Amino acid sequence: MRISVFGIGYVGAVACGCLARMGHEVVGVDVAEAKVTLLAAGRSPIVEAEIGEIIAGAVTSGKLTATTDVAAAVARTDLSFIAVGTPSGADGALSMTAVEQVCATIGRAVRDKATPHAVVMRSTVPPGTGEERAMPILARESGREPGQGLSYFSNPEFLREGTAVADFHAPPMTLIGAPAGDDAAVLRELYAPVPGAVHVVPLRIAESVKYLSNAYHAVKLAFANEAGQILAAYGVDAPEAFRLFREDRTLNVSPAYLRPGFAFGGSCLPKDIRGILALGAAKRVATPFLSSVLPSNEALVERVFDRIAVGGRQKVALFGLAFKPGTDDLRESPFVTLAERLIGRGFELAIFDRHVEVARLVGSNRAYIEREIPHLERLLVADAAATARACRVAVVGHIGADDLPALTGALGDQRVIDLAGVAALRELPGIAYEGICW
Ligand SMILES: NC(=O)c1ccc[n+]([C@@H]2O[C@H](COP(=O)([O-])OP(=O)(O)OC[C@H]3O[C@@H](n4cnc5c(N)ncnc54)[C@H](O)[C@@H]3O)[C@@H](O)[C@H]2O)c1
Repeated sequence: MRISVFGIGYVGAVACGCLARMGHEVVGVDVAEAKVTLLAAGRSPIVEAEIGEIIAGAVTSGKLTATTDVAAAVARTDLSFIAVGTPSGADGALSMTAVEQVCATIGRAVRDKATPHAVVMRSTVPPGTGEERAMPILARESGREPGQGLSYFSNPEFLREGTAVADFHAPPMTLIGAPAGDDAAVLRELYAPVPGAVHVVPLRIAESVKYLSNAYHAVKLAFANEAGQILAAYGVDAPEAFRLFREDRTLNVSPAYLRPGFAFGGSCLPKDIRGILALGAAKRVATPFLSSVLPSNEALVERVFDRIAVGGRQKVALFGLAFKPGTDDLRESPFVTLAERLIGRGFELAIFDRHVEVARLVGSNRAYIEREIPHLERLLVADAAATARACRVAVVGHIGADDLPALTGALGDQRVIDLAGVAALRELPGIAYEGICW
């Protein structure tokens, strides 16, 4: 393929070298003349393993050239990768200045071209950038509508500096964001020799996954570093503890606990987070990251309360009171917190939870209910359908498969706030459904 790469920094230089080595005809473009001069002479503008020899070889073979002339680069190629910088702006948001500038110049160059052109966003950009910023600028400047001689894709880069060439050729996955109706054939073909899964997804999903990835990597590091400091303060061999911690691929290094939804609770997680914070405090280890975990959880309960309260003090039915489905354990349940908040603010509340209802009558939880939350006990009801019919807002924390038909059958024009992502509710026609992050 004939490819232009805009921005020949860490991402762009690696793309230039690796794409040329794959046999493509590549032209690197940058506003920094010094970088262009270096690349044109077969020298890498960045320090990175292997890339020096790759670029030298590609320039010698004639597969890689460099220019500051945008129009010439666009005229000579069919596909433009954007790999310009998106540094933090003053308010922390990524600066889109270079992205918008480069989209405008590419768009203007496309206007003077007779053949179709594809633009691929490789830079890390916020969700919505493609649809709300890059595509409109490209369309305005080129005079072409997307799909009519102009295509746009998002293709986030997952390489790490230091192992960039190896990562380019063996990424964790190839992620392609494409507008609806476009199967991204050109990029599927480009990446055919690259191992790993190829996912073609909506633009915003592709843009988001890159954000999620980097945020999560930072979160993992902050967790490991704070926990490591605490362990070391108690004479524990932290690297060895972490080596074993990583061996748990069921819960620790796994998809477990990585589905967005409502707040966590139960008898272990909040208690043991407080416990590890106390360990750190006793040894004067600063734990700003771990200290933020419970406030984050509480903020979500508050956010859901605010959502419920938007419609005023209407009659609320809460489905699910135990901290998760399939248990009667109410200790530190976020649904108990939510119920307390609603009662405290004068909402009329009914609560349905089959397991808690049974526990109230016969189970081990009875003493806890009577001692700790007697006011909630009075609100427990046994009939899911009647409860749903009588309320104006149905809040679904969780609901068992046995009780779901009664709930769905009874819902009419109530607001339904689904904290569990119940498919049968999402798909129920005619209800006023609200998810929390779906
Ligand atoms: N560095 C990494 O490891 C890495 C990994 C994955 C993704 N990313 C993302 O990729 C993007 C690029 O990162 P980087 O580290 O390569 O940045 P960089 O600062 O090294 O390079 C950006 C280049 O873009 C050039 N540029 C700016 N405006 C231009 C324009 N209008 N036309 C042409 N060139 C222009 C700059 O002169 C510079 O050479 C960022 O969004 C970054 O977040 C970086």
